[in-house]
Amino acid sequence: MQEPRPATPPDASARAEALRAEIAEHNRRYYIDSQPTISDTAYDALFRELALLEARFPDLRRDDSPTARVGSPTRSTLATVVHRVPMLSLDNAFGAEELVEWDLKLKRHLALPSEAAVEYMAELKLDGLSISLTYERGRLVRAATRGDGSAGEDVTANVLTIDSIPKALVGDADRAEAIEVRGEVFMAHDEFARINAENESQGVPTFANPRNAAAGSLRQKDPLVTAGRRLQAMFYSVGACEGVSFQSQDELLATYSRWGLPTNPSRGLCSTIAEVQSFVDRFDEERRRLNYDIDGIVVKVDSFAVQAELGAVSRSPRWAIAYKYPAQQVRTRVEDIVVQVGMTGALTPVAILTPVAVAGVIVSRATLHNSSEIQRKDVRIGDTVVIQRAGEVIPEVVEVVTSERTGAEEPYVMPAACPSCGAEAACAEGEVVIRCPNPTCPEKQRQRLQHFVSRGAMDIEALGGKRLDQLLDAGLIRDAADLFVLTAEQLLPLDRMGNKLATGIVAGIEAARTRTLARFLFALGIRQVGERTAEVLAGHFGSLGRIMAATAAEMAEVHEIGAITAESAAAWFTEPVNAELVRRLLEAGVRPAADGAEERTELLKGRTYVFTGALQRFTREAAEAVVKLNGGRASGSVSKQTTAVVAGENAGSKLARARELGVAVLTEDEFLADAAERGVRVGGCNG
Ligand code: IVH
Repeated sequence: MQEPRPATPPDASARAEALRAEIAEHNRRYYIDSQPTISDTAYDALFRELALLEARFPDLRRDDSPTARVGSPTRSTLATVVHRVPMLSLDNAFGAEELVEWDLKLKRHLALPSEAAVEYMAELKLDGLSISLTYERGRLVRAATRGDGSAGEDVTANVLTIDSIPKALVGDADRAEAIEVRGEVFMAHDEFARINAENESQGVPTFANPRNAAAGSLRQKDPLVTAGRRLQAMFYSVGACEGVSFQSQDELLATYSRWGLPTNPSRGLCSTIAEVQSFVDRFDEERRRLNYDIDGIVVKVDSFAVQAELGAVSRSPRWAIAYKYPAQQVRTRVEDIVVQVGMTGALTPVAILTPVAVAGVIVSRATLHNSSEIQRKDVRIGDTVVIQRAGEVIPEVVEVVTSERTGAEEPYVMPAACPSCGAEAACAEGEVVIRCPNPTCPEKQRQRLQHFVSRGAMDIEALGGKRLDQLLDAGLIRDAADLFVLTAEQLLPLDRMGNKLATGIVAGIEAARTRTLARFLFALGIRQVGERTAEVLAGHFGSLGRIMAATAAEMAEVHEIGAITAESAAAWFTEPVNAELVRRLLEAGVRPAADGAEERTELLKGRTYVFTGALQRFTREAAEAVVKLNGGRASGSVSKQTTAVVAGENAGSKLARARELGVAVLTEDEFLADAAERGVRVGGCNG
């Protein structure tokens, strides 16, 4: 007779639900925004807790649980590619003991004695983005990101701009009818420094680390942006494969090299787990001298036959493991503790630190997560603390060095009120996060607006950097609806605001009026409604009106929408301030387009424009955006391929070059007239 299963207590069920929601949110920040807010260690702890709960109470398992999935949800803006063989993830080993345990477990599975020899390949675990390239008879035909492991995003156009990825393989690669070549796209440290310096000088937000920079550069709608970033790639595994076969990882990597695919020369065949450990130890030192980030060592069974025998369990193969190096830890002092108000009102305590270098990056802030974490670690202002950047994400305080205490340290108490608006902060049941409940809290409004205009949302590039703050500070806007009634005249009195910039901003806002329903929904900043959820809701209900009218129960019936998400989305629309905001957005002419109705056109396809000189009618940015939106190219240099140079006053060398090459030169008005004749809506260009 089967043992009766323990009944699942309601608090375990609530905890699992809360963990799932929290993990989903962190997945979104990591994979979609490329802006994680917790360390890998903290994320792993959440993930393990959920996995343990689900293992203990099997009726808590869900198909849509993050534990049942690999990697990130896909974004809608790029086409989807189904991987013929799924892209798996790896289990982690923390420390020598877990590595030995893995070796023993694998041998047990193979019914081998513990002292039997299994050949391993040890490789560096590159900290970038995994990619799958399909080559047919040696020619690159498709490139896709991992996505959720089964299907990813089509990034072929972007990958074609990466020099280190061969478009055609050499040698006998044409034997392979079709092969999915897998590896990692990453950004070297020097390139990361260059891009960030460039962003800083242009007042554009900098990337937190090379991984985020690589992700941001690859998952671009505009391949020109990818082309401007020097990404690199190395290849280490294979998916579907027709026409060739490999016996081992060693043979695979040697073949890849022969075909002209970059592989990492830093690798080693090891006959025992002790040899693997020596490799791990060697690179614990050497990794500091590499020009790219690694976050561990991947150990693989070398023989493909043995790999096949071992197989995989849910999200990861039994035949490979990722050894993770402990995070780099550094001591510094807590100068202050401040509270940050998030878009959803979450109040996060942040330690302001004496700046210190950790893993090559200067750190001056570290998250303290929430008040129970502060209490648990007993962090006080003035304390010397150990901080770490695990997995190169937002740093966190690991522990207080109590032996350094002088007695002058001040304990910190989370304010009972929101630091921005003074509203009494509250903690919802089952949550550790304290939130500001005031829907009109200025800081919350600011964060919501930042989100509203951000790239995955309404994508109003002209309001990037500090411009939005400038409008808020000047009292010109308070919320998203105010944006759509702004005029260029209102902007003109602002500091460093010229005619062109002002019209460019208004044009940028104008162009956002018809973003898709999914983007609009995501832009509203509803808790739990990330890009993917917004797409699902938009796809299912088809119109804003129907979404607003749906009850939580109706939303929860939609495939992929969980109860918590449904509850949160439905509650958001019933909140009077939110309903009022949506009403004003619509009144101001915002018309979320039904999904699938793309605002892009192909009207300027095959045409390349160069804008030069002092433009009067529009900004270069706005004109280039219109060109790109309509399928054309905007370039910074004139060549024979240039369709026309649009020259403003005092145009210099580019105009001369156009004349030299016989390329058409247009005035701004001629460009507008020509574009309009081709059916292009130039409203987004000249307001
Ligand atoms: S093998 C089935 N080898 O690590 C396993 N992965 O955490 C296929 N990674 O998704 C992966 N360097 O993005 C493998 N030398 C390496 C790697 C590597 C980095 C990444 C890869 C994978 C992730 C798993």
